[in-house]
Amino acid sequence: MTTPTPIGIHDLELATTHYVVTLDDLASHNGTDPAKYRLGLGQDQMSFPAPDEDIITMGAAAAAPLLERNGTEGIRTLIFATESGVDQSKAAGVSAHRLLGLPSDVRVVEFKQACYGGTAALQAAIGMVSRTPNERVLIISSDVARYELDSPGEPTQGAGAVAMLVSASPALLEIEPIAGLFTDDVDDFWRPNDSSTAVVDGALSVSAYLDALTGAWDNLQAQGGPALDEIDRLLYHQPFTKMAKKGQAHLAAYVGSELDVTLPGEAASGGRDTGLALGTLYNRRLGNTYTASLFAGLASLLHQDDSLEGKRIGLFSYGSGSVSEFITATVQPGYFDSSRAARFYAELDARVPLDIDHYRELHATELSSATDVVTPRVSTSQYRFAGISGQARQYERVDQAA
Ligand code: CAA
Repeated sequence: MTTPTPIGIHDLELATTHYVVTLDDLASHNGTDPAKYRLGLGQDQMSFPAPDEDIITMGAAAAAPLLERNGTEGIRTLIFATESGVDQSKAAGVSAHRLLGLPSDVRVVEFKQACYGGTAALQAAIGMVSRTPNERVLIISSDVARYELDSPGEPTQGAGAVAMLVSASPALLEIEPIAGLFTDDVDDFWRPNDSSTAVVDGALSVSAYLDALTGAWDNLQAQGGPALDEIDRLLYHQPFTKMAKKGQAHLAAYVGSELDVTLPGEAASGGRDTGLALGTLYNRRLGNTYTASLFAGLASLLHQDDSLEGKRIGLFSYGSGSVSEFITATVQPGYFDSSRAARFYAELDARVPLDIDHYRELHATELSSATDVVTPRVSTSQYRFAGISGQARQYERVDQAA
């Protein structure tokens, strides 16, 4: 019997916005104890898009370095996962495809199921590569998380994109074939077609997440997946990083295992270290990035833990509404690149702080497709949302702009 060729994530990159809002500033604006955000939610900052940024510009910015490093040969599929889509019909990936200069013989499609879409894209990509192992699939997960001003969800906003290249014999992670699945029709969080902000039942969303975690875990076990003590590191979808801690505590209690649940700034809890804190360091500065959140956590871990060769990582993906999946992956030899974390921290540090008045003004600005508009040039990204013309959104690459 021949061993099947390993398939998984060959390379991965992140991008975020021009602006950042510091949650201490938000706390001081609305009279909240800043510790509620830093410790109660486990969030320090939230990325916020400039008027000339959106899911497409962030997605292209994440994918560009990936394509520079790996070329475009063999890429015949681009899946764009998002829950903050900018059009009801056209896939955001079609605009990203042009911005990135991809060839015409690429199929492009958008995936949606709340924050789960990126994981669905990963499984679809693995299926495609198993059929044609010489092909590679580009996945872009990109989102802007928006809640109403002055709502409990406001401090859990954020924005960012992760691009992943899926291939045979991957350099970073082999995704193992057994997965745990859990779907349940629940109204915990959604965004109606006529709303630019999400509607959420906060308490229900937290309990639905935890129920989905044990549901997906049980299914992983029923399918013959690894036991908890055979998984070295654990990553969770992170709407706010405290949710990963809640998930870890819930899973540990459910399985009857002692796992470390310490987040940065907290007293050590004891228990087995599964990389919880390291996997939250990027997310606590990005905020919620919906479809990208789990993979931003993966990047945070892979960039900052150099001891993972051959280790198994468990990844829990949750998309409200709800669909969730627990997958496992093994880290490949030579995955660690010490320059990656420094580069991403420099990108986070380079964001321009937005004061609360300016942030609220930008948040309240809603564009209508009925009105032509030219956006001001604010972002320093190579990719810009240039405005609306004839009801169509316009995008430009700065080196190609008129
Ligand atoms: N110092 C330290 N901690 C404090 C504090 C202080 N001064 N004041 C409050 N806290 C703690 C509270 O004790 C609480 O901790 P626990 O959860 O451990 O009990 C925490 O801060 C949050 O405070 P509240 O319980 O008062 O909650 P809230 O009204 O601020 O709402 C929320 C929290 C429901 C998460 C809200 O931010 C929200 O609706 N967010 C959007 C929905 C969401 O992210 N849901 C997560 C699951 S759904 C999902 O995962 C999909 C997705 O991406 C959206």
